[in-house]
Amino acid sequence: MRDMQIHKNTSLKALNTFGVDANTKYYCEIHCRDDIAALLDWKAANKVTENMPNLLVGGGSNLLFKSDYEGLVSQICLAGKDIADENEQYVYVTAAGGENWHDFVRWCVAQQFAGLENLSLIPGTVGAAPIQNIGAYGVELADCFESLQAVDLETGEVFEYHKSACKFGYRESIFKSQMLDKLLITSVTFKLIKEDKNPEWKMDYAGVREFLAGKEPTAALISDAVIALRQCKLPDPAVIGNAGSFFKNPVLSLGEWQALKADNPNVPGWEQANGLMKTSAAWLIDQCGFKGYRQGDAGVSEKHALVLVNYGKASGIDLWGVAQEIMASVENKFGVVLEAEPRVL
Ligand code: EPU
Repeated sequence: MRDMQIHKNTSLKALNTFGVDANTKYYCEIHCRDDIAALLDWKAANKVTENMPNLLVGGGSNLLFKSDYEGLVSQICLAGKDIADENEQYVYVTAAGGENWHDFVRWCVAQQFAGLENLSLIPGTVGAAPIQNIGAYGVELADCFESLQAVDLETGEVFEYHKSACKFGYRESIFKSQMLDKLLITSVTFKLIKEDKNPEWKMDYAGVREFLAGKEPTAALISDAVIALRQCKLPDPAVIGNAGSFFKNPVLSLGEWQALKADNPNVPGWEQANGLMKTSAAWLIDQCGFKGYRQGDAGVSEKHALVLVNYGKASGIDLWGVAQEIMASVENKFGVVLEAEPRVL
């Protein structure tokens, strides 16, 4: 049996893609089932739930630490992937929570399993993906999600969540609301379609179809298109600290949308299934003049107005300061309230 180590006073700098220099009081890595059991034992013995918060991290690509973390941070490193089931048309692939998301997507693409290709190059892990219901280029995780397995961090009970129980919404799920910090997602199962069984390719997002230049779509080509688009539009967190889109695109009532549109005829908007309208946070922020804005080492990407960046030594407070300036400015100019997408701690 592996002897899981609980480390004291550990730096979180490499554990958040903003590269913010914060520390955690306790830190451990979860590599296997025995580590989960050891974690539960340690939590019970150290009264983590009563006296101390606990946080699970995957790739740390959706977190902003405003201060040191006065609790236990567990990094989920569970590895492995497998075909759980298949039929003529579909294949059910299960991947462990700690698998790197993009590597997993590329593996599916290489097997000619379609469904996840539009989600190429999103930073993070498989286990974190459903929490956020990650989405890009016309697809969100929920579209291919079958189920997930999770361990209750209080009782050690194992639960299986099917799609309807996950309450997926735009960058939302039950794992981000009621079940926040209560479950450790050990694996996720995706329902993917075999590439020769006529997948419904999603190519309507600006730039994807153009990249294909008339070629017959394949999962690999669409994945390549998305990678190319992301690489030119979004800063690479390995080069410059960031957490992707820092704000969600605001979803407005029809009345709010009409008022915004009347004053700003060029504002982009997309109809939602429920009669609401989603507008572009990037556009609103750009109009307020924040693209490329910089305050010390905290700023807004020159490539994309929605991405906050750490030029080196910005603290979480510095980055949050820029975020608040942006929120105040957008609310003042457009009457629209922006909501942060990453978790701010
Ligand atoms: N725009 C600007 N200025 C900018 C960038 C964009 O005005 O600097 C406007 C343009 O009018 C553009 C519109 O905003 O047409 C939409 O921009 P983009 O296509 O880049 O998409 P987004 O709405 O800003 C969303 C997701 C991204 C995802 C892309 C592509 C959110 C919060 N963001 O961004 O997700 O990659 O669509 O599908 O939903 C993430 O969540 O971390 C993320 C990167």
